[in-house]
Amino acid sequence: MNFLPSGICFYLSVATCWLTSRVDSSWWYMGTLGSQVMCDNIPGLVNKQRQLCRQHPKAMQAIGAGIKDWISECQHQFRSHRWNCNTMARDHNVFGKLLLRSSREAAFVYAISSAGMVHTLTQACSQGELDTCSCDPGKKGFSHDSKGPFDWGGCSDHVDHAIKFTQSFLDAKERKERDVRALVNLHNNRAGRKAVKRFMNLECKCHGVSGSCSVRTCWLAMGDFRQTGDYLRRKYNAATQVVMNRYGTGFTSVYRKFKKPSKNDLVYFEDSPDYCIWDHESGSVGTGGRACNRTSRGADSCEVMCCGRGYDTSRVSRATKCECKFHWCCAVHCRDCQEEVDVHTCKTQS
Ligand SMILES: *[C@@H]1O[C@H](CO)[C@@H](O)[C@H](O)[C@H]1NC(C)=O
Repeated sequence: MNFLPSGICFYLSVATCWLTSRVDSSWWYMGTLGSQVMCDNIPGLVNKQRQLCRQHPKAMQAIGAGIKDWISECQHQFRSHRWNCNTMARDHNVFGKLLLRSSREAAFVYAISSAGMVHTLTQACSQGELDTCSCDPGKKGFSHDSKGPFDWGGCSDHVDHAIKFTQSFLDAKERKERDVRALVNLHNNRAGRKAVKRFMNLECKCHGVSGSCSVRTCWLAMGDFRQTGDYLRRKYNAATQVVMNRYGTGFTSVYRKFKKPSKNDLVYFEDSPDYCIWDHESGSVGTGGRACNRTSRGADSCEVMCCGRGYDTSRVSRATKCECKFHWCCAVHCRDCQEEVDVHTCKTQS
């Protein structure tokens, strides 16, 4: 069974595609033929999105190249869980189904995609790949922090520009509806955008006599996307289930005793399937064929992962580095060895 992502028609808050890097590159390559052609061939865009796409082909190209980074961050965060942010090759509807259901997982996917888009566009901006933006012009002159005064210098990441674009692009789809699903999606899109801003770091270079740091030049730089991924993963764990309020203008927590979710929290309104078996209706691809850990007691244990269906064990040979020796100075030389390991995979049916 193949769980590698491949041609997964996905969403971008719509039903656009999470494409493999292979499909990805050829597909986005079309972009150089003209933004009109490219934008007219992205499935599932609403008019406003198509318009933004045509106006900003370079931003769209950056997004196309960045998509696989935030898919893999999502997959990293859920690697040892039944739902692993993945879907089967060639089935274009499964993930779409999941996202039709406003589950906790859908909330995470919306947030990480929105965050990923901000991150990707900010990076593209700093690298001068976009026509419409460059380093943050607000970061000029002098400032002060706990270590004293410094000069703004270099290229501060212009995250606000990326946030604006991401907001108008991703929210455009949700703004067409005014139901609870749309409100929940808008909320999670915003939580994702805000998450990136949390991990901006002041980076500085010291000047002055023999690096005494009496003079500093600083700039704001985005942190590694892993930080945002870890943060949103914690927000997923603490996500709040909501219902529409009685005026239909917003939502409130299902459990009254819980406080109202903040703008940073993830929200959802439908229960998740258990993701044990293939179920087209709920958007579950099942855990048949997934690797599990026989000695673990957590979510990746064979017990939990295989939902009690049991597992198959096969012995596979894998290449490892062995007999590594340190050579002065400074190299490590190893031999290539073969190692036999047992791999456990969940049965599809008991
Ligand atoms: C399986 O789980 C155990 C206990 O949590 C852990 O020590 C071990 O590294 C895991 N093995 C693999 C292959 O992940």
